[in-house]
Amino acid sequence: MQTVVQLGLFEQKQIVKLPKQDSEWGTFKDSLKAPVHRWFTYPAGFSYKAVEHSIERFDIAPGQTIYDPFMGSGTTNLTAKTLGIHSFGVEAHPFVYRITQAKMNWEVERGHVLDFLKTVRLELPNLALSYQPTAVKAEFPELILKCYQINTLADLLALRTLVTECKMSDELREFFFVVVTALLREVSTAATGWPYIAPNKQKVTSLDKDVLTEFCNLARRMISDVEEIKVWSNGRYQHTTHTLINGDSRNTTGQIPDESVDHVFTSPPYLNNFDYADRTRLELYFWGEAKTWGDITRDVRDKLMTSATTQIARSDSKYEISAELQADCPEVAEFVDTAVTELASRRLHKGGKKSYDLMVAGYFNDIHQIVRDVYRVLKPNTKALFVLGDSAPYGVHIPTDKLIGDIGLGVGFSDYEIEVLRTRGDKWKENPQRHSVALRESIVILSKR
Ligand SMILES: C[S@@+](CC[C@H](N)C(=O)[O-])C[C@H]1O[C@@H](n2cnc3c(N)ncnc32)[C@H](O)[C@@H]1O
Repeated sequence: MQTVVQLGLFEQKQIVKLPKQDSEWGTFKDSLKAPVHRWFTYPAGFSYKAVEHSIERFDIAPGQTIYDPFMGSGTTNLTAKTLGIHSFGVEAHPFVYRITQAKMNWEVERGHVLDFLKTVRLELPNLALSYQPTAVKAEFPELILKCYQINTLADLLALRTLVTECKMSDELREFFFVVVTALLREVSTAATGWPYIAPNKQKVTSLDKDVLTEFCNLARRMISDVEEIKVWSNGRYQHTTHTLINGDSRNTTGQIPDESVDHVFTSPPYLNNFDYADRTRLELYFWGEAKTWGDITRDVRDKLMTSATTQIARSDSKYEISAELQADCPEVAEFVDTAVTELASRRLHKGGKKSYDLMVAGYFNDIHQIVRDVYRVLKPNTKALFVLGDSAPYGVHIPTDKLIGDIGLGVGFSDYEIEVLRTRGDKWKENPQRHSVALRESIVILSKR
């Protein structure tokens, strides 16, 4: 068993354990059953019920404004819209942003959807047949070729052409962009379940799936979802505005005004080496938005806050603990510095030599900027809720929830509480390759006076 260091923590905070029925709030399970929320299975999503609960608990009323600085697949914004609340959302990943923008557009009409399905039924078979297998293969990177049979891929390419080139409104095109995206993992004959893709493992359930039939079924289900969510909303959505930004929540000055927000509900990337850019590789490759790892690094990975070692170049000085973090939160900076030193030493004895040391420093530099910006946009007498998990890279425990709470105090919040949703990773306890720290998922509630 690995030795686990629990670095000394400054002041201890009271931590409350939430009842069992709330333990799934940090997961996407409920959202997979809810109209529109379920369109894109985002492995990093949380439950829309957690957002509803927060809105009710802190008396956020229709006409007020909620903000999610890590919008992801839009759970916070969709919930706000349903309940008649305005929203801001910032998402740095361009592809994920595009999906969410489409999910927030409820003006798509059934008649227009059905008209396009008619066109596709008429044109897809001949268009797909007109592609030579060599031309289809030349169109896509290796990963895509491994995930689909060649006739399926010809159908998908025909769909891509029709959705991209047929004359239709931008809103309708974006709706079908999500339909085709949702279809991709459905009809793949390789194991493409989230979050990992295993191109060499066969998924037999997809072998006889017909692209055209699945596409039409999915489009019909999704337009029914739009109709259903409007019924859920009972008209309240009509009086709301939503500003969705494909940008960087480390600094939203000029995009979100000072003291304009009544509540923040969000979930930042966890400090667990999850590479958001890589998780969408299949989709980016299919749509031709990237062809190589290098394209993904330039266009996505480099735009995200630090949370994975794949983002790190060891020569980059941005992974030194920032002067601002040291000035605002000296105790946090000292704790992070001790962890970084310990990780720098541990990595030298590990096969992978992962840059967890620099990842931890970069993570807290970035989170500090985001918490500071969140403080700026919140009105007085409001709360910001961060759903997140702690971690123990190379066995060094990093209590992310407490550190974010303390960063909050450093940038001006008056107080914070931690509520534990569930403990995680217990199943690893018996595995000698893993550490024995019981990790947890919690909600940090920051109060602004
Ligand atoms: C835990 S996920 C949020 C998921 C979201 N709650 C949902 O339900 O889908 C974190 C998100 O933060 C995004 N992100 C990372 N760095 C960012 C930054 N600097 N600004 C805005 N978004 C960022 C990632 O792309 C990812 O989608």
